[in-house]
Amino acid sequence: MADKDGLKVAKDYLAEVPFANMGDFHVKGAKNLDWGMKKHLSNIFDPKTGKTVMFAFDHGYFMGSTAGLERLDLIVPTLTPYVDVVMATRGALRTCVPAECGCGVALRTTSGSSMINDDLSHEVVAVDIEDAIRMNADCMAVQTFIGADGQLSSIDNLSQVINAGFKYSIPTMGVVAVGKEMERTDRFFKLATRIVAEMGCQIVKSYYCENFEEVVAACPVPIVVAGGKKLPEDEALTLAYKCIQGGAAGVDMGRNIFQSTHPVEMAQAVRKVVHEGFTDKEAYQFFQDLAHRK
Ligand code: R5P
Repeated sequence: MADKDGLKVAKDYLAEVPFANMGDFHVKGAKNLDWGMKKHLSNIFDPKTGKTVMFAFDHGYFMGSTAGLERLDLIVPTLTPYVDVVMATRGALRTCVPAECGCGVALRTTSGSSMINDDLSHEVVAVDIEDAIRMNADCMAVQTFIGADGQLSSIDNLSQVINAGFKYSIPTMGVVAVGKEMERTDRFFKLATRIVAEMGCQIVKSYYCENFEEVVAACPVPIVVAGGKKLPEDEALTLAYKCIQGGAAGVDMGRNIFQSTHPVEMAQAVRKVVHEGFTDKEAYQFFQDLAHRK
């Protein structure tokens, strides 16, 4: 390991220069992967736009029943026609998501945290690769706690899942966790997303921050951005717009869809931003028009 003393602060991200190793494949950093990995990544990132709308409803894995997700069986099937990928636990997928829905699958594979004990940085790999294969998962999501107590064990979890994923050509999505004690700065996200990507995962899930274009430029795999806490719909669409403008390969949005007054219309509006080049204002107008028609 390099001596920390005397290390220079990175600064030349050349954010305006496109990723140099795309080749003829639409997913960043995936040019050299094998057919199976590319097929799964194409189930996640639309080959026409290179982007994805992931709908995250895995919150129950540590929050239990969450507002808006009280009845997974009722809400999820209304949304699957409008999203590219469902991000969920195997329990939610097997019980409440129609297998014929046509969406890609981001399978949460780590667990161990809960809101009750307030210990949100220690997890284990809870789903083995055989079950991910059985569920035809397009990627396996692993929570990572860079800079927190659980860093070492979460990197261990991530490595185990990536190694198994390479064996069977299933991509891994490293999820950058933010906690009470962690800063939400570009400095932190540049560090965390890069560490997770260099561990070998094919997708990173992270958060929007200032200088987001530099975070994206420094990360050699696609970044999808979590929605975070519920915002008014216009602000959530502005967030999605800024992410896409900043180079995100999509959003992985949960509460800002399922806690919206109009979840189906919100999913469609997010889709317009991610895949059709709508500005946030155009998408909000689209949302309002759809919502008022009901
Ligand atoms: C991640 O760790 C969570 O379980 C969610 O998948 C993620 O935070 C995205 O959901 P939201 O947009 O509600 O933050």
